[in-house]
Amino acid sequence: MGVSWWRLVAVSALAAILFSPHLHCASQEGPRYPFMRNATTAPKVSYYDYIIIGGGTAGCPLAATLSQNYRVLLLERGGSPYSNPNITNLASFGLPLADTSPASPAQRFISQDGVINSRARVLGGGSCLNAGFYTRADPLYVRNAGWDERVVNESYEWVERVVAFEPPMRQWQSAVRDGLVEIGVLPFNGFTYDHMEGTKVGGTIFDQQGHRHTAADLLQYADPTRITVLLHATVHRIFFRVQGGSRPVAHGVSFRDASRVLHRAYLRDGPMNEIIVSAGALGSPQLLMLSGIGPEAHLRAHNIGVVLDQPLVGQGMSDNPMNAIFVPSPIPVEVSLIQVVGITHSGSYIEAASGSSFGRGDPRNFGIFSPRIGQFSKVPPKERTREALARAIELMDSVEEAELRGGFILEKIMGPISSGHLELRTRNINDNPLVTFNYLQDPRDLERCVEGMRMIERVIESKAFSPFTFQSIPEDLVANMSSRCPVNLLPKHVNSETPLEDFCRNTVMTIWHYHGGSQVGRVVDSDYKVIGVGSLRVIDGSTFHYSPGTNPQATVMMLGRYMGLQILTQRLAAM
Ligand SMILES: Cc1cc2nc3c(=O)[nH]c(=O)nc-3n(C[C@H](O)[C@H](O)[C@H](O)COP(=O)(O)OP(=O)(O)OC[C@H]3O[C@@H](n4cnc5c(N)ncnc54)[C@H](O)[C@@H]3O)c2cc1C
Ligand SMILES: *[C@@H]1O[C@H](CO)[C@@H](O)[C@H](O)[C@H]1NC(C)=O
Ligand SMILES: *[C@@H]1O[C@H](CO)[C@@H](O)[C@H](O)[C@H]1NC(C)=O
Ligand SMILES: *[C@@H]1O[C@H](CO)[C@@H](O)[C@H](O)[C@H]1NC(C)=O
Ligand SMILES: *[C@@H]1O[C@H](CO)[C@@H](O)[C@H](O)[C@H]1NC(C)=O
Repeated sequence: MGVSWWRLVAVSALAAILFSPHLHCASQEGPRYPFMRNATTAPKVSYYDYIIIGGGTAGCPLAATLSQNYRVLLLERGGSPYSNPNITNLASFGLPLADTSPASPAQRFISQDGVINSRARVLGGGSCLNAGFYTRADPLYVRNAGWDERVVNESYEWVERVVAFEPPMRQWQSAVRDGLVEIGVLPFNGFTYDHMEGTKVGGTIFDQQGHRHTAADLLQYADPTRITVLLHATVHRIFFRVQGGSRPVAHGVSFRDASRVLHRAYLRDGPMNEIIVSAGALGSPQLLMLSGIGPEAHLRAHNIGVVLDQPLVGQGMSDNPMNAIFVPSPIPVEVSLIQVVGITHSGSYIEAASGSSFGRGDPRNFGIFSPRIGQFSKVPPKERTREALARAIELMDSVEEAELRGGFILEKIMGPISSGHLELRTRNINDNPLVTFNYLQDPRDLERCVEGMRMIERVIESKAFSPFTFQSIPEDLVANMSSRCPVNLLPKHVNSETPLEDFCRNTVMTIWHYHGGSQVGRVVDSDYKVIGVGSLRVIDGSTFHYSPGTNPQATVMMLGRYMGLQILTQRLAAM
């Protein structure tokens, strides 16, 4: 019954070791990791206790944790985030997302819905591209997930010691905060990482100087003698051993370096050694399918040898819709990404970003909402063609300073409930799979969006927000904005029975919180082990049924740490 004393002692000794990060000369350029190398320098064949595929938001904390006791290989298809100012500086948000070259840290994809989106391709994953907002999951979410609350809290704290900060609250974000409070999104909870109904100032992974800290920084906690991180290492396949009628067991991977040379890595002998897929919501189900785990007919259609017929791989793909209103300001506003959130009881979340003007023609104009990064909400998703996008960018470059001045108030919804699926397009791991999210298909999602838009309208009309709005917007500004600016103003005179419903559907964008595809209870069990095969887990956002908190990254990083601790504990118990 219970846990034996020696195990408790062992676990707490372990915790003591794990709590002190090895600070590898952390500097402004970031830490210099002696264990991080270009995959071109890797041996043709190598052996490890754990092979982790994807050095992203979950993969980095997971690898750091497992390296405390075991030999870990972390394989990341992208490069290093360090010393790249596009990634490091807050004001450069959008530059990596605007870069559509194969060397970019962001890989653009367009869902079958027509919404333009991006996936990370860099060590640190989505945390190197994102808007930085850091906020924990609702305690109810934690309970429903069946996680141990105490270890969850310790894991969040472990993450927060390195990457989470309090944002500087300047005028515009403060006005949004006060506006939310004024219209009754209460109570005001001050600055907190916790998810609580009401208005709060959340955390951010940007420090007070506007420098980004990412999941890659969590590798400071790694044991440098036991971890190897390979960059530009794209995993093409997981290998399985099938012995006389028993279930397939994962035992190795193949990956290509930047010179397209093929390498193999295998698990060392040991019954508890494992391969862990942390390749993100598109990458993980895609790699499972390419390795033979997925819907049999679909795999056969692509000439992939079937290891396990698993129709649920690629199912349950969801993305949180985002709808935003541009609010032109008579006075200049600070550059800010998301800092404040209104968590309403109807399940819509109100957030904001400001400082969209960097001067005429600057690629950073309109930040999170620029067509340069694929955000283009003036036309419905299906009409967002390459040509329409190019034209929007061209027009935007001609707008005046005054037309760019202002900020966005956005709305995203809890969950969401609507979901879709993922399929392979080709057998090439570098190609995006086909993915459908069915944004706002469920009437409950649509209703939350409509509620959110009504809230935004009230914030804009609040007294607290009035310094940042025109009493009456100058006519030429409205005319210029509607003809040239790729953003939406508050919808006013719409001829429709259901104007806000239409507005929600037609202006939907992504807030990049896509998840699912290898969900708990469907593709992996509650220990994140892939059902039906041995020595394989999936640990990342692809396992989620719903997006945690108002924004997911805190919980994705926490999960990497949390599962690392669970695995270490399970092995100690088995010793
Ligand atoms: C632009 C943007 C803004 C966002 N804003 C916020 C925000 O403000 N707050 C918030 O909480 N969340 C935000 N998010 C969401 C959050 O960043 C993601 O949910 C989270 O990073 C997902 O983590 P993950 O570990 O599941 O996947 P990722 O972090 O994407 O990690 C997957 C990793 O696997 C690698 N990989 C994939 N396939 C292979 C392969 N075959 N071989 C080797 N490596 C591979 C990828 O290169 C990547 O590094 C944003 C995301 C984006 C893109
Ligand atoms: C920064 O982004 C710009 C614009 O997207 C791109 O042209 C440039 O190459 C990027 N720089 C680096 C160091 O990645
Ligand atoms: C975990 O932290 C939350 C706040 O983030 C708190 O409400 C809860 O009581 C904590 N739970 C445990 C078991 O410590
Ligand atoms: C890694 O190796 C490839 C191929 O030799 C090269 O193109 C790339 O610049 C290298 N990257 C780094 C960070 O050294
Ligand atoms: C509208 O556009 C015209 C033509 O470019 C410009 O002269 C005018 O200043 C703009 N108005 C505002 C308010 O930006």
